[in-house]
Amino acid sequence: MLNIVIFGAPGSGKGTQSDNLIKTYNLFHISTGDVLRDNIKRGTELGAIAKAYIDKGQLIPDNLMIDILASVLDDHREEAANGVIFDGFPRTIAQAEALETMLQERGTSVTTVVGLEVPEQELIDRILLRGKLTGRSDDNMDTVKNRLGVYHNQTSPLKEFYQQRGLYQSIEGTGTIEEIFDRIQAVINPLLEA
Ligand code: AP5
Ligand code: MG
Repeated sequence: MLNIVIFGAPGSGKGTQSDNLIKTYNLFHISTGDVLRDNIKRGTELGAIAKAYIDKGQLIPDNLMIDILASVLDDHREEAANGVIFDGFPRTIAQAEALETMLQERGTSVTTVVGLEVPEQELIDRILLRGKLTGRSDDNMDTVKNRLGVYHNQTSPLKEFYQQRGLYQSIEGTGTIEEIFDRIQAVINPLLEA
């Protein structure tokens, strides 16, 4: 199995590059943000809880998020046979530790972590542009500032967590979508030959 964590700040291109990864390597995509937004759209109980956090740019509590991830993994065991791309999860050390255990229990592990590095001003520009084009509710200046703050405080320590495990691959996340994907493939393909 090829289990890839795609990692990076809000707007770094996790979703965009996941689309390329799932096609090229036949993987199952789990975007926790998409799962939550789908629940909001369908008006579920989880959606109502999630909306309050998302609109403030805060993280959904770890215990809730971890349970959601486990149930998505179990509901899609067949589609995930070749591997999973984890997009937007883990976002805290507690989530990363839970993911380790969860995958271990299912006889697998994280193969690699692809970290997209993008300067802060470009992140803001990309997100505000998308906010104008699509109206995504958390793509506005106030919420973006909170999302970036949360990323620095709670999520960026995961870089060191995965570096210590020899799993972190830093990728320059600027340039065209194709250029970035070429850089990602250059770190993934050698893992397949190994
Ligand atoms: P989530 O949906 O994960 O959002 P995010 O991390 O803030 O990131 P984005 O989806 O905005 O960006 P992305 O990195 O996917 O980039 P994209 O490819 O879209 O999370 C939303 C919220 O849900 C969180 O704030 C939290 O409340 C909650 N949540 C989710 N997961 C959670 C968890 N595990 N625990 C707790 N809470 C959780 O690209 C961005 C834009 O840039 C797009 O418009 C794209 O077209 C454009 N773009 C992409 N690549 C390029 C390029 N190379 N050049 C120019 N533009 C580009
Ligand atoms: Mg995304």
